Amino acid sequence: MMSTTLQLSDPFGRLGYREAGTGEPLVLIHGVGLQSAAWTPQLEALSKTHWVLSLDMPGHGDSSPLAEGAELPDYVTWLKAALTALNTGPVNLAGHSMGALIAGGFACTHPALVRRVALVNGVFQRSAPARAAVLARAAKIKAGQVDFETPLARWFEDTPTEQAARSQVATWLGQVDITGYATAYGAFARGDSTYAKAWAQIGCPLLALTGEGDPNSTPAMSRAMAAGVQDGTVEILPGRHMVNLTAADAVTDSLTRWLLRPETTAATISAESEKETPMAPAPSVPPNMDPRALRDAFGTFMTGVTVVTSHDKDGTPLGFTANSFSSVSLDPPLVLVCLANSSRNYEALTQASGFAVNILAEDQKEISNTFARPSDDRFAKVAWQPGPQGAPILEGVSAWFDCTMHKTVEAGDHVILIGKVEAFDTSTAPGLGYARGAYVTPAAEAEALAQGANLVVSALIERAGEVLLMDDGNGGLTLPQKPVGRAGASVALGELITACGLAADPGFIYSVFEDAAREHQHISFLCQAADGAPKQGCFTPLSASTMMEVTDPALRIMLERFASESRMGNYGVFYGNQISGDVRKIVSGS
Ligand SMILES: Cc1cc2nc3c(=O)[nH]c(=O)nc-3n(C[C@H](O)[C@H](O)[C@H](O)COP(=O)(O)O)c2cc1C
Repeated sequence: MMSTTLQLSDPFGRLGYREAGTGEPLVLIHGVGLQSAAWTPQLEALSKTHWVLSLDMPGHGDSSPLAEGAELPDYVTWLKAALTALNTGPVNLAGHSMGALIAGGFACTHPALVRRVALVNGVFQRSAPARAAVLARAAKIKAGQVDFETPLARWFEDTPTEQAARSQVATWLGQVDITGYATAYGAFARGDSTYAKAWAQIGCPLLALTGEGDPNSTPAMSRAMAAGVQDGTVEILPGRHMVNLTAADAVTDSLTRWLLRPETTAATISAESEKETPMAPAPSVPPNMDPRALRDAFGTFMTGVTVVTSHDKDGTPLGFTANSFSSVSLDPPLVLVCLANSSRNYEALTQASGFAVNILAEDQKEISNTFARPSDDRFAKVAWQPGPQGAPILEGVSAWFDCTMHKTVEAGDHVILIGKVEAFDTSTAPGLGYARGAYVTPAAEAEALAQGANLVVSALIERAGEVLLMDDGNGGLTLPQKPVGRAGASVALGELITACGLAADPGFIYSVFEDAAREHQHISFLCQAADGAPKQGCFTPLSASTMMEVTDPALRIMLERFASESRMGNYGVFYGNQISGDVRKIVSGS
């Protein structure tokens, strides 16, 4: 996950956002008082299949505020500026609370830019007493009477999970810029009916989801939002107002199902060209088949990665990343690739006289990402030349096949492009692999293994019940860690401890795991520190809110185990991968 900022067109100033993954864009907008990190569980999970962008709302996180007195339509205009600057093209748009108001307003006013819209804990046409109450709260906040305890008590139940989320949300509320908060709250209080009259124009798949115990963003409101559009569904989950944190997995599952719903409307028309995109009616997945599980199962098949290129009728080069390539026949020489019906290049490719398939080399991950993300000019930073049939051939690829179009076959939500190979070439560059939503680079890994470079050592330095944590450079926390060089793990650990400026004894190995997400082996040593201030990081108690700031899920799981074993005084050594493994107890005296 990467946190970054971008300058927007005037008058919107800076945009702060987090992004991860590749594929169709999914844009997430948080609620009043929070920040882009509020979507962390969904960002982590959904970035396996999508290019996920979690935005800081104006006046929150790293985004500049809107002018005081801004109303909901101003936030909708801001979102348009943000998506333009991010160059996303049509997006899947999910908002929470105020974010849901913005997302709903955006879907009404910019239907060509929205593939699907999800409204989580959204408000819609409040009753007169509810409106009076929220307007009174907005007036108090505007007058500087800010009280975070009352909403926190309203948002969370008393269970440990809810309380852990409460303490994280309290931290974010404590960091908010009060003017930005007051402006957003005013727009939130007054915006519940702004787009009600235009609501029926939403033609894309809409998901309205809330907590069964949310007193202000009620299940009745979610039902009304879903019932008011052509393709709405409603889901009510256990919990109250912060279901994306308190029922994180359930929300992720709901969003996954929503993301698999066939697009039905205007977003299939490119916003820029306003051209119609032919959409074959997508067959629905059988009801007993979980679409996400099916997609994951397909994803276990390890493939290479290609960029398929051609030209549109004006001669402008086009291309997209595809792993659905397969050789089909030697005589005649045929290959195939599957193109999604939702592709912006559908028309151009299905009508093209031919295409080229570029088999990417291991060092071309960035090219794969470029051709999987919307962009004005995917070829701008890529060296290429026209092949014998004219389609772009990229420099440095493992192989290329230049084809004339043999046949196109409609197949569900994709079209199969079958090409007859007219010319090809190969190089010795090892090919880039792809499996389970991640790139695979076996040759680079073998090379790194030979040099000990994909082994990482971390130091779990403990003192008086606290652990030394440091900034991970992305606004989160992590353990001191470094790659192990040729000198070995003990030397690397010694260097880590020295760099922290502490007198600490290298202790026993606490955890050994394969971190597939980061593509390395990880060894963590438990070390006891003597007195003295560290040069880097600080000693921190492992409270629930601290844990939520540890961004690497594998380290977070390890620290949660450490916190629980510290309480019991009963340590074990973990062997496994970043998700699962065995804990073997350390028997005293052994
Ligand atoms: C590794 C990888 C493999 C992909 N394979 C395919 C594919 O086989 N077919 C497809 O239609 N999209 C595939 N995609 C998604 C497209 O590259 C992506 O949706 C892209 O934005 C399509 O661009 P377009 O709409 O401009 O054609 C893949 C993406 C990645 C990262």
